[in-house]
Amino acid sequence: MTHILHRQINAVLPVASGGQGIELFDSNGRAYIDASGGAAVSCLGHGHPDVIAAMHRQADTLAYAHTSFFTSDVAEALADRLVADAPAGISHAYFVSGGSEAVEAALKMARQYFVEIGQPQRRNIVARKQSYHGNTLGALATGGNEWRRAQFRPLLIETHHIDPCFAYRFQEAGETDQDYAARAAQALEDKIIELGPETVMAFVAETVVGATAGAVPPVADYFRRIREICDRYGVLLILDEVMCGMGRTGTLHACEQDGVAPDLMTVAKGLGGGYQPIGAVLLSRKIFDAFAKGSGLFQHGHTYICHPMACAAALAVQEVIARDKLLDNVKAMGAHLARRLGERFANHPHIGDIRGRGLFMGVELVEDRSTKQPFDSKRKLHARIKKAAMANGLLVYPMGGTIDGAVGDHVLLAPPFICDVAAIDAIVERLGDAIGEALGS
Ligand SMILES: Cc1ncc(COP(=O)(O)O)c(C=O)c1O
Repeated sequence: MTHILHRQINAVLPVASGGQGIELFDSNGRAYIDASGGAAVSCLGHGHPDVIAAMHRQADTLAYAHTSFFTSDVAEALADRLVADAPAGISHAYFVSGGSEAVEAALKMARQYFVEIGQPQRRNIVARKQSYHGNTLGALATGGNEWRRAQFRPLLIETHHIDPCFAYRFQEAGETDQDYAARAAQALEDKIIELGPETVMAFVAETVVGATAGAVPPVADYFRRIREICDRYGVLLILDEVMCGMGRTGTLHACEQDGVAPDLMTVAKGLGGGYQPIGAVLLSRKIFDAFAKGSGLFQHGHTYICHPMACAAALAVQEVIARDKLLDNVKAMGAHLARRLGERFANHPHIGDIRGRGLFMGVELVEDRSTKQPFDSKRKLHARIKKAAMANGLLVYPMGGTIDGAVGDHVLLAPPFICDVAAIDAIVERLGDAIGEALGS
């Protein structure tokens, strides 16, 4: 008997009762290796003493003060740190309580920017199919996940979607990465011209696609071309790094590896590592200046923006990552994970693709490797894998609808930055067993 409206009404969930390092425990005493950090959240694993100590200190000092009256030292310190480490041009941070709120705020910043600079006709948002930007209405409208959008479509603002940069599914046989990058990016220019360049406000994309398609990195050159197209037409580039950012791919920001800096960037999950709910928009100087020289405000706000407890947890998480040089470990363990996945699955008849960056990896399952034919969605292979993995003491993040929101299955892995070789080996071993069991059932 529960009074919670759970995600799945008839699901019987184990009770999480504790966590330490890479493991979570349930109330029956079972241990699970958390190989996905929930949804790529728990970047430091569980029960990190330094983060917990920082939260205690903050609770003893100041839990909350409304931002229309006060700022706080801890929020200022977190903003200083994020801006110091941000891509070129980023000058300010805006703290919210999660990823969807960050995306909503970024969209409104983009709109207000154009109002402030005298281009109020810019209102169109272009994003990509097979992307996820959150579940609030603006973010949901921006995302291109058909399954998530379908029943809410009458409530969604108008947005426009181009094909993603998804090499396994969209790169043609014999097409070079360069040519594919050019073709995939050209879709944006074509869409901008179709809509009328003077009406387009922003292009929104996950630098590495997360939950919807399963850790899909862009091909080299794609984002450089996207950046050029945005600049050519005065369109803002919003990179959604809610899932792939804050070190997950081996650099603090995924876009560093693509050689581009966005005008606006959203971060969340790994920012606070799950110790507190927090997200942020990182905004560039030109957007800040437009607000500062214009109306003098950003017309937005929530009760919990810049929450001191959330900022304290995030600051501690980011300090631990830097102090313990964990991005080096993400690179090293990411390479090991890719190698081990290759050894286990490269010749597997039903693994079509192994992809990702750093400790953000996906495997895509197919019925037939030569034709890339997916499994019948009625089989719900992704759900079976999740169940079998849990039974084997492993938490992974499988999803269906990989190809178009309806068909395709993948498993997303996002282990904590603190994991070692033995942990990675155990993850791959248990995942292999779970996939085997799920395919056999
Ligand atoms: C890329 C991306 N953007 C936005 C969100 C929404 O974040 P939240 O669930 O914290 O609202 C998510 C969540 O999975 C995400 O992966």
